[in-house]
Amino acid sequence: MELVETVQELNHVLRNHRNSIIGFVPTMGYLHEGHLSLVKKAKKECDFVVMSIFVNPLQFGPNEDLERYPRDLERDFDLARQAGVHVLYHPSIKEMYPNEPLVTTTVSESISKVLCGKYRESHFDGVATVVAKLFNQIKPNRAYFGQKDAQQLAIMAQLAKDLSFQIAVVPCETVREEDGLALSSRNVYLLEEERKQAVILSQTLSEVKSGLIARKWQTPDEINNFVRDRISTKPLAKLQYIETLSYPDLQSTTSLYDKQILVALAVFFGKTRLIDNILFSAEGESHVSNNDEIQITSGNRYRS
Ligand code: PAJ
Repeated sequence: MELVETVQELNHVLRNHRNSIIGFVPTMGYLHEGHLSLVKKAKKECDFVVMSIFVNPLQFGPNEDLERYPRDLERDFDLARQAGVHVLYHPSIKEMYPNEPLVTTTVSESISKVLCGKYRESHFDGVATVVAKLFNQIKPNRAYFGQKDAQQLAIMAQLAKDLSFQIAVVPCETVREEDGLALSSRNVYLLEEERKQAVILSQTLSEVKSGLIARKWQTPDEINNFVRDRISTKPLAKLQYIETLSYPDLQSTTSLYDKQILVALAVFFGKTRLIDNILFSAEGESHVSNNDEIQITSGNRYRS
């Protein structure tokens, strides 16, 4: 595996692989099995795999955890190498943003001001800008994103389509701990008792999913109220939002069984913010509208 820090080096390393299928896994590092599952899928589907590690200041708000975001490049280097990544791209902030960018990417409010976007001002503009830059620098054929960040995944598919990137955006299932907690770089912030109580997110979503399969719920409000009640049983958990929307267009919906839906929540434990979600489609499988490259399955894998 080669560690590359500049666009120039990247061009040099990739020049001999332009006839190969290049898979790209963008990350902010502090790698875990979730990130590595993206690499595994990319390895299956591509000849050559590039991973980026870049903690992107543009997507963090002024009161967010940019400074304290966990970092460990040495450990990440070993994990990426063991997973079979060919090129690890780790640009500096200066390399990515030599000047304050005067041209950036803006995501429509219809998909960026719901869910996380309601609480994270210009977060998805920052994500879209950095991913567009990375797409241009790497020019991959396929790019891998986790369903754990379902809103980000939907926006990335739209970004590729609307800005005419010839890149297939590939969704990847959420990887979880034994007890169901979705893996996240931010889980290391959790204190022991918070970690114990954090299992309520996946447990509740699992109950929602069973209810959907049994057609127990009739409206999004019923689901949202159920989730509010369940989360409130854990004294350290503070619900930021719970939303049940159609997916991938992220619109309010009254029906639960005639289109794919996303049930997503964000919960604070102290300063640590965790997110999780499920996708459900009564038909079992459905396609992201207008993009045949992308298939979002309703299944959510629990590793228990
Ligand atoms: P980061 O949080 O590091 O996540 C990188 C990728 O790993 C994302 O596509 C995310 O959805 C996926 N991922 C995280 N946890 C996962 C899990 N438990 N199971 C499966 N996939 C998981 O998301 C970002 O970085 C950034 O916003 C980025 C896209 C790199 C742009 O800066």
